[in-house]
Amino acid sequence: MYNYFATTSKGLEGVLADEIAALGGKRIAAGTGGVSFSGNRELSLRANLWLRTANRVLLQLSEFSAPTPEALYEGAKAVPWPDLFTVRSKIAVEATVRDSAITHSHFAAQKTKDAVVDRFRDAVRARPDVDTSAPDVRIHLRIVRDACTLSLDTSGESLNRRGYRADPADASLRETVAAGIVLLSGWDGQVPLSDPACGAGTIPIEAALFASRFAPGLLRASFGFQKHADYRPKLWSSLLDEARGAVRRSGTGRIEGCDISAEAIGGAGRNAQRAGVSDIVSFKRRDIREFSPGEPSGVIICNPPYGIRIPGEEGGIEEFYRAMGEAFKKRCRGWTAYVLSGSPTATRHIGLKASRRFPLMNGPIDCRLLKYEMY
Ligand SMILES: C[S@@+](CC[C@H](N)C(=O)[O-])C[C@H]1O[C@@H](n2cnc3c(N)ncnc32)[C@H](O)[C@@H]1O
Repeated sequence: MYNYFATTSKGLEGVLADEIAALGGKRIAAGTGGVSFSGNRELSLRANLWLRTANRVLLQLSEFSAPTPEALYEGAKAVPWPDLFTVRSKIAVEATVRDSAITHSHFAAQKTKDAVVDRFRDAVRARPDVDTSAPDVRIHLRIVRDACTLSLDTSGESLNRRGYRADPADASLRETVAAGIVLLSGWDGQVPLSDPACGAGTIPIEAALFASRFAPGLLRASFGFQKHADYRPKLWSSLLDEARGAVRRSGTGRIEGCDISAEAIGGAGRNAQRAGVSDIVSFKRRDIREFSPGEPSGVIICNPPYGIRIPGEEGGIEEFYRAMGEAFKKRCRGWTAYVLSGSPTATRHIGLKASRRFPLMNGPIDCRLLKYEMY
């Protein structure tokens, strides 16, 4: 059994914990900005392949107290690094420090890097190089109240980079946040889903990946664990085969994205193609003032413009919210809407009462996902 910590955006810890439970994780505990769990090595590969809301899956290596730089160095040097990856790997240490005697994260990262390098020198008389821009191996250090946790990043590049969004739009959501909103909404993949301001199409595309049981990791070329000493390519290839076999192309509800911007709609279509879901998602250019989802019931998920004006948007933010409220009241009876709002002032202009509010961080923006039921 190994201990892992999967990171996510604040507000998505609960849905991430459910995802980990579905994969068979043990001792699952949701914290702030992530979920700890335990399981075997295969579970970490499955987690990288299947988790929709995790940004990284970290393998915890060591926990120790480091009230001084020397204690940090000794604690980091005690880890058998040469057993974990080869000396030819380019490494990077990322550190976060909070409420501790060691106050500078950059200094803590340097000290840890020195310990890793020295441990290699002692063992093989050679040292790994450092490359902070494109490392093969990422080491994470977290110090909270002098308690250190050292981890190895099994994901590599953040898992939100699925690889399909070569056409981003203004203010695009992280793929993991878009997937998280779909999961928070409880959408079952079978009733229709519509996003009236879809931008690059992230929400409809993540919805389509979920509904078709498409493992998001199938879209990625590489992962951090592939550079680790215990990587088993045959096991990984069998997990990929299993995931490919799990994809189902039929039985999903109609998934649609609309946006006022023709450019955004073009990009969303190309993104869906790259994600391999263009057969189950459709996009059309439409002003929110004409939004009408058509069918008698379904789920609307929307990430409207924030306080910042988006090019191509006519009128102000309030006008957008007012028009959305009008469309919901007049043409969306029987539907349930989830609106990700970063602006409480603008949200009032919807003119409907939210039946639930989920706090959610969208990057640095403190948002609420608001639920509206249109009877
Ligand atoms: C925050 S962005 C959505 C980003 C999207 N979730 C993504 O991940 O790419 C808001 C979108 O609202 C669109 N928008 C602005 N005014 C609109 C209107 N009147 N009707 C429909 N869409 C509009 C913008 O073009 C922009 O793409």
